[in-house]
Amino acid sequence: MKYTVVLTAKYPPIARDILAGAFDIVEHPTEQARSEDDMITILAEADAAITLLSDPLTRLVLSSNPNLRMVANYAVGTNNVDVEAARDLGITVTNTPGVLTDATADLTMALILAITRRVVEGDDEVRTSGRCEWEPMKLLGIALQGKRLGIIGLGRIGSAVAERARAFGMEVIGARRGEKIDEILTTCDVISLHAPLTAETRHMIDAAALARMKPGAFLVNTARGPLVDEDALCDAVESGHLRGAALDVYEFEPGVSPRLMRLKNVVLAPHIGSATDEARIAMARIAATDVLRFFNGQKPLNAVT
Ligand code: NAP
Ligand code: GLV
Ligand code: GLV
Repeated sequence: MKYTVVLTAKYPPIARDILAGAFDIVEHPTEQARSEDDMITILAEADAAITLLSDPLTRLVLSSNPNLRMVANYAVGTNNVDVEAARDLGITVTNTPGVLTDATADLTMALILAITRRVVEGDDEVRTSGRCEWEPMKLLGIALQGKRLGIIGLGRIGSAVAERARAFGMEVIGARRGEKIDEILTTCDVISLHAPLTAETRHMIDAAALARMKPGAFLVNTARGPLVDEDALCDAVESGHLRGAALDVYEFEPGVSPRLMRLKNVVLAPHIGSATDEARIAMARIAATDVLRFFNGQKPLNAVT
């Protein structure tokens, strides 16, 4: 008898290649956000699953199938998984750290450049007018050289962003877990978020934190949407207190606030931090390899529990 591995999306084929032969594989590809009930149905026959960061792996879901022994979350973030419940239930959880660090740091730099140099506004202008006029005072942004970048969450991705930003001539300061962020809020020209979503980090950037930010500063978020109070961010951009914001993640994904969509000085990316061929293939490889290792009685390489 083979164990069944459920794939909750269409992952790069390398995942199937690694698991084929040793396991029965059941695919449930969908781009739709799922409810807990959907997840319970999808995981009903699973001994293990490779899951999406949008799949709600709550206590209710994890405890619905007593055969479920392992979940390989296809992401480095595990805020969609009730890790404590998994531990209680003896379910091993793995993630995909490291292999997406460069991709996500590059996308963060792309967003910092896009918002400070108004790349998306410029693209829109060219498409709308069908013309390119050079004008001395048109679409002026700010120089990064000599500006201060604040990194909240100086882990793998935060450190990789710091390295890139220094190459652009920025002065970088950072904060790790437990460290005060007030100096970052009050002195930085650009603030970039790289902390995981936890009870402690939810709404760490709220109206009060935004009010502490330097007038004319920029906020960039490629971590998790709920780190920011999105309504308060809209207030801060609409009032002109912030000069702009660039987001890859949203408070209510897959929803995006209509207020954000109306703001020209906000760049909106669709959660594509790790979206390179290289990173996504590597994520599939390590997720599937950990499933294989688990059922071979080896220690998974990226165990969260
Ligand atoms: P990581 O290496 O664990 O780095 C996270 C850092 O945040 C750690 O240094 C951690 O400190 C710190 N931290 C935790 N709580 C904090 C707090 N309250 N204040 C300040 N810092 C805090 O993780 P990573 O690989 O860099 O990934 C970071 C996050 O990026 C993931 O959790 C995920 O949500 C997000 N992400 C998004 C995308 C995307 O597509 N946009 C792609 C990949 C990852 P400790 O070391 O002390 O815990
Ligand atoms: C993406 O957001 C991840 O956490 O890997
Ligand atoms: C701009 O195109 C310049 O030549 O300065």
